[in-house]
Amino acid sequence: MNIEGKVALVTGASRGIGRAISYQLAQSGIRRIILVARNFALLSEVAADIREMGVEAVALPVDLTRPREVSGVIAKAWRDYGDIDLLVNCAGVAYQVPFLRSHRSQVQTEIATNLTGMYAVTSLIARRMAARRSGTIVNVSSLMGKIAAPTMATYSATKFAIVGFTRALRMELAPHNVNVMTLLPSLTDTDMAKDLQKFRGVIPVSAEAVARACVRGLENNTAEVLVGWQSHLAVWCDRFSPWLLEPILKLTAPSRLLRVGTASLQENRHPPKRKVKIWHEGEFQV
Ligand SMILES: NC(=O)c1ccc[n+]([C@@H]2O[C@H](COP(=O)([O-])OP(=O)(O)OC[C@H]3O[C@@H](n4cnc5c(N)ncnc54)[C@H](OP(=O)(O)O)[C@@H]3O)[C@@H](O)[C@H]2O)c1
Repeated sequence: MNIEGKVALVTGASRGIGRAISYQLAQSGIRRIILVARNFALLSEVAADIREMGVEAVALPVDLTRPREVSGVIAKAWRDYGDIDLLVNCAGVAYQVPFLRSHRSQVQTEIATNLTGMYAVTSLIARRMAARRSGTIVNVSSLMGKIAAPTMATYSATKFAIVGFTRALRMELAPHNVNVMTLLPSLTDTDMAKDLQKFRGVIPVSAEAVARACVRGLENNTAEVLVGWQSHLAVWCDRFSPWLLEPILKLTAPSRLLRVGTASLQENRHPPKRKVKIWHEGEFQV
């Protein structure tokens, strides 16, 4: 894709990787960027930075877990700013927790943001790109979309799903001249990573390095862009010696979190005896 003079919409643009991709696109000659996330104040700061670089920027706040709001915002973007040539689906959330202690509400938020949120934006924009017979879509998955690891089961499930979703779209939309690409960052130094307990030996990459890899991938029409040598090594190892990767992942996983998960299993097997108050003919027995 030739980025020069194009219009992009980037979700998750208020912080982290989405913000870095927006800056990188601005440096690479894009004409206009529509910045999407929930936090309007942060989006406005990013928009102001981008305008200083001589590129048009618009902040459009929306919660991607609310499909009606999403339709309204995309319709407004088309009405006010015209067609979108490049969609970068970057917004995402991650909850790191041993599966035995996972919470349904957190899993629902991961699915609503990472998957159905992405679907809501993509289904609207892909139709219009197909009608115009032009466009590019980037879906941000993760190394965790290729390699599953302890304490990340539900996040990993959403990121594996994005890889499948993107591969299918790539084939379906190619006849409509719409290109679809997956970006697979490894651990990246952002707010999301600050909340995670690290796997031993994993070296975080910068959001700027991920953004540069994304733009290089766009310029070369790459189907799947893995970021960092550790990712290449892990994926290679998963493909050719999966028997080796699994014990390595078990060894490097955050052991404190895993111990908490095991403790909760023991608790379920032998629940502590609780005092129960029983109503008994006009008095309480303990
Ligand atoms: N950091 C890593 O180690 C890493 C590694 C691999 C892949 N990734 C993926 O890269 C993407 C960006 O992650 P990051 O590290 O940049 O995380 P981050 O710093 O936490 O940023 C997440 C972005 O998503 C937006 N967002 C979250 N929930 C949203 C919602 N309901 N509606 C609209 N926007 C929402 C946030 O904006 P608001 O809070 O303003 O809404 C923010 O802009 C994610 O898809 C993540 O899974 C990250």
